Amino acid sequence: MKVGFYGHTRQYQRIQKEIDDNIAKVLSSGEYVHGPMNKQFEKEFAEFSGTKYAIPCGNGTDALWLTLMALGIGAGDEVITNANTFFATAEAIWIAGATAVLIDCDPLTKCIDPAKIEAAITHKTRAIMPVHLYGQCADMPAIKKIADQYKLWVIEDNAQGVDAAGDTFKIGELSDAVATSFIIQKNLGCFGDGGAIVTNNEQVNRVAKLLRAHGSPARNVHSFGFNSRLDDIQAGVLSAKLKHIHAWNDERAQWAARYTAGLKGAASFDLPYAKPGYRHVWHLYVIETKDAAKRDAFVKFLNDHGIDAKTHYSIAIHQQPGFPWGKGARIVGPLTHAEHNAATCISLPMYPELKPEEVDYVVAKCLEWDRAQK
Ligand SMILES: Cc1ncc(COP(=O)(O)O)c(C=O)c1O
Repeated sequence: MKVGFYGHTRQYQRIQKEIDDNIAKVLSSGEYVHGPMNKQFEKEFAEFSGTKYAIPCGNGTDALWLTLMALGIGAGDEVITNANTFFATAEAIWIAGATAVLIDCDPLTKCIDPAKIEAAITHKTRAIMPVHLYGQCADMPAIKKIADQYKLWVIEDNAQGVDAAGDTFKIGELSDAVATSFIIQKNLGCFGDGGAIVTNNEQVNRVAKLLRAHGSPARNVHSFGFNSRLDDIQAGVLSAKLKHIHAWNDERAQWAARYTAGLKGAASFDLPYAKPGYRHVWHLYVIETKDAAKRDAFVKFLNDHGIDAKTHYSIAIHQQPGFPWGKGARIVGPLTHAEHNAATCISLPMYPELKPEEVDYVVAKCLEWDRAQK
């Protein structure tokens, strides 16, 4: 049996008419960039997020640095995040001209460890950038408390957690802005690149909207800016998919529960930790081998048996060759858990359109590997 890592075409076929209708609407409107479909999606995504504003843009990385720039964060400023995230989290800090301060993650959730934040704060610190890694919210109440105490901005990197929530909080409630990616493989993914900021902050909305479109508030009027727009065809795809995202995330949770029930007796790897009361949206289902030396062989075993397992992310940011390339960077404390995560992680196939027999096949092969380790 072959089990792919992604289900893009299955998802398209599932709601093909809704997507095709939206694309046809855009094509016949003749307005392909910042046209009516983009405006419609902007409104829908702000409503979905429970925020005053949404600012669609070119991709999730841009959503992060546009937010930083809109808040006036740049050269001489420091932004704190965790070392075990997708590279773009730190990259966005560098694009804005600021220094990335990397700290360790919580050993269970793999999200930023709030207990490590205070030691990283200096007079240059301007913001904390928690990542809702794998689709589970970081401990936002603890982060917000520190941010309030030290008067710091909080920018949520929510590329992986659209529609996730905490036990007592929603995404966007305890921060100044939330940046999201719509790249193909995200829970809410378009057919190319896309991203958005959602916020209640008027300055972020106003300045980011200017920055993403050549600093232009009106035709022929410009200040310094960039080009980072979500085109209307992608907005149409996203508008169609947004109506289904909650149900699709519920389906991901069912597959996660099936994996966890099937794999719970395994001795050679650890299963992902889901925080009680949190809505985890399972962008990724990540197990960790107990023996780091066996991780790559385990991935190969799965791949050899037709299972497209991957790793997210097997090289932590500070371990990338050449780090930090002359950019501002500081590492605070040992990064023990981030490095363990990088050395041991394996992502199993996870998307709503998986089939029970595919999940069961992945479970069976993981258990076969596990038995052979004894
Ligand atoms: C945690 C995280 N941050 C930022 C990004 C950047 O998003 P994009 O690829 O749309 O630029 C991604 C995904 O790619 C991500 O997973």
